[in-house]
Amino acid sequence: MAVARVPLWAICMLRVTLATVYFQEEFLDGEHWRNRWVQSTNDSRFGHFRVSSGKFYGHKEKDKGLQTTQNGRFYAISARFKPFSNKGKTLVIQYTVKHEQKMDCGGGYIKVFPADIDQKNLNEKSQYYIMFGPDICGFDIKKVHVILHFKNQYHENKKSIRCKVDGFTHLYTLILRPDLSYDVKIDGQSIESGSIEYDWNLTSLKKEKSLAESKDRKLTEDNKAGVQWHNLGSPQPSPSGFKQFSCVSLPSSWDYRHAPPRPANFVVLVGTEFLHVGQAGLELLTSGDLLVRSGTIFDNFLITDDEEYADNFGKATWGETKV
Ligand SMILES: *[C@@H]1O[C@H](CO)[C@@H](O)[C@H](O)[C@H]1NC(C)=O
Ligand SMILES: *[C@@H]1O[C@H](CO)[C@@H](O)[C@H](O)[C@H]1NC(C)=O
Repeated sequence: MAVARVPLWAICMLRVTLATVYFQEEFLDGEHWRNRWVQSTNDSRFGHFRVSSGKFYGHKEKDKGLQTTQNGRFYAISARFKPFSNKGKTLVIQYTVKHEQKMDCGGGYIKVFPADIDQKNLNEKSQYYIMFGPDICGFDIKKVHVILHFKNQYHENKKSIRCKVDGFTHLYTLILRPDLSYDVKIDGQSIESGSIEYDWNLTSLKKEKSLAESKDRKLTEDNKAGVQWHNLGSPQPSPSGFKQFSCVSLPSSWDYRHAPPRPANFVVLVGTEFLHVGQAGLELLTSGDLLVRSGTIFDNFLITDDEEYADNFGKATWGETKV
């Protein structure tokens, strides 16, 4: 019997369809973004967003993005998507930001949240998984934040990554890979990369990863508190059933040897694996006395598991119209 030959183009097609896009937003449909994005009403003083391409642009329609409109305000807005887990997969977070006003002090970063965050009450205390992007304040702070939430703590990157401080549109990309390597790109160029373990001072990650991967592992006294266990609640949760994803922290006295077998609906998460990513948003604040000037524009949001897709999306959006 003849073995079916798979033509090269079919393999290429397959390659393309393998990308999973969790979230993509270009603000190309007028005011309909208001149906997808929820402004927090947790504080009546929160500033408002509009969709605008700003004072200058490469393309008046395509360059429309979320713009801050009031000076000296805090901002909180978010959009939902179908919850996913990045366990065992690459996670790419990408967007563009333009500070067309003279930015003295203010954030240009985005946050990625668990699915069960209350969007209407989003505020600076809302727990996030990842915070990524530039932060500028005075002469001292001109950095790209990459803050990861792990084991109930926020971990900031040790390496200082310098952000762009001009008034043009820049493409920011964060890639977290399952082998615990990462990449931070600005305008498609890698400006920092390496090991998540070292650059976030999480030296126990690799150990935990191999532990979690070994099927017949026996947790020893030393490392049994090192792995995060999460109760999925149900092996096949309903789309609306975010609440049943309750997280379980095992007590440090928990002893694997005497515990009953692990139920099928438990998963082990390691390092930068997040179980139910479900929202992306802007929660911008500032400190100090410098005035935060409005006018920043955020656009071309993308969350995917595919680096190549993100690269192409960046080229097709920022790459085509950048100014
Ligand atoms: C703001 O959100 C917090 C929860 O994070 C809630 O406790 C508080 O009541 C909210 N405040 C307002 C004014 O809605
Ligand atoms: C890294 O972690 C170790 C142990 O947890 C700690 O002693 C050390 O101070 C940390 N270093 C930095 C730069 O945070």
